[in-house]
Amino acid sequence: VSPTLMDRFGRNHSYLRISLTERCNLRCQYCMPEDGVKLTPNSGLLTTDEIITLAKLFVQEGVQKIRLTGGEPLIRKDVVDIIGRLEQINGLKTIAMTTNGILLNRKLPELKRAGLDQLNISLDTLVPAKFEFLTRQRGWEQVMKGIDHALQLGYSPVKVNCVVMRGFNEDEICDFVRWTEKKDLDIRFIEYMPFGGNEWNSKKMVTYLEMLETIKREWANLSRLKDGLNDTSKAYKIPGWKGQVGFITSMSEHFCGSCNRLRITADGNLKVCLFGSSEVSLRDILRSGISQEHLLEVISTAVKRKKPQHADYIMKCRQCEISNNDNISSEKFY
Ligand code: GTP
Ligand code: 5AD
Ligand code: SF4
Repeated sequence: VSPTLMDRFGRNHSYLRISLTERCNLRCQYCMPEDGVKLTPNSGLLTTDEIITLAKLFVQEGVQKIRLTGGEPLIRKDVVDIIGRLEQINGLKTIAMTTNGILLNRKLPELKRAGLDQLNISLDTLVPAKFEFLTRQRGWEQVMKGIDHALQLGYSPVKVNCVVMRGFNEDEICDFVRWTEKKDLDIRFIEYMPFGGNEWNSKKMVTYLEMLETIKREWANLSRLKDGLNDTSKAYKIPGWKGQVGFITSMSEHFCGSCNRLRITADGNLKVCLFGSSEVSLRDILRSGISQEHLLEVISTAVKRKKPQHADYIMKCRQCEISNNDNISSEKFY
């Protein structure tokens, strides 16, 4: 194991999340204001060549899995090309993506052909009108088509991310669970987190234990599975059913101790923690033509500064790696 990506607490960072764009075609109330977020000018975003250069460097230092995120990653025009080029990198085992699914149905065959291995799709409700309310856009049917198409193409399982909010969709938890009876889905219920401008309210947060009770009232035989090594979710299953469910307990039981993730924002900043601010601009170093050794040193220094668990854990939530607009999360929010 290369020491570059090992932190002071023995956590080895083999999982890199790269945000391809700050833009999104939805306006989820828990994530963005209606008018969207302030965008970095195009010249400040990582070019495709820069993304590939960084990906190669991180893989050389031990990264085995890269997840493409956003904003909405499928908005980036050359996303298929990026996946194709990542696929060529020796040593990279898994290419994954987290998407809102709106553009997925159309693009799936190309994405698969280019080398996309895993798909996580966000869907918070099974009721189209509620989807429109939450995301301030149409598109529920498109997302459902995308999920079915992904199953048809053999993604196994297709992970569905469902943020649970009291008064919005906690009454749908069992409907989501029922969906796993015949389909190879992994429905992951996410505890609602505070996030810049989302009018988070602790009363809207439904904890893991409460969700678990709701499900157990209907299915007492819900059983715990063994979690993967660095999973964000606690896995469960109804015995005999095809799919499974899980809980991402970011609020009630954090999982910082087994964190193996690093992030690069669309404007090229390295973040060693979801809840921290951006540590350093890799873009600026790349563009200044400084040597690869220096770049590695900078990355290593940032990783070694990573805290065992983020100090302002609860307050500094920032979800979709949208950008380095720390003003959004900090000023508007704290
Ligand atoms: P897998 O690679 O399939 O395990 O995906 P993932 O769960 O890491 O990624 P995804 O993009 O699907 O994120 C789903 C949820 O996981 C997010 O909404 C977060 O709540 C949580 N999450 C992802 N990465 C982190 C992290 O580094 N720290 C914390 N606290 N939560 C994270
Ligand atoms: N709380 C919990 N999850 C959130 N996500 C976005 N904002 C929040 C929030 N405030 C989820 C999205 C997506 C994942 C990457 O993060 O729904 O599935
Ligand atoms: Fe877009 Fe994801 Fe934010 Fe919704 S949560 S607005 S899909 S980036």
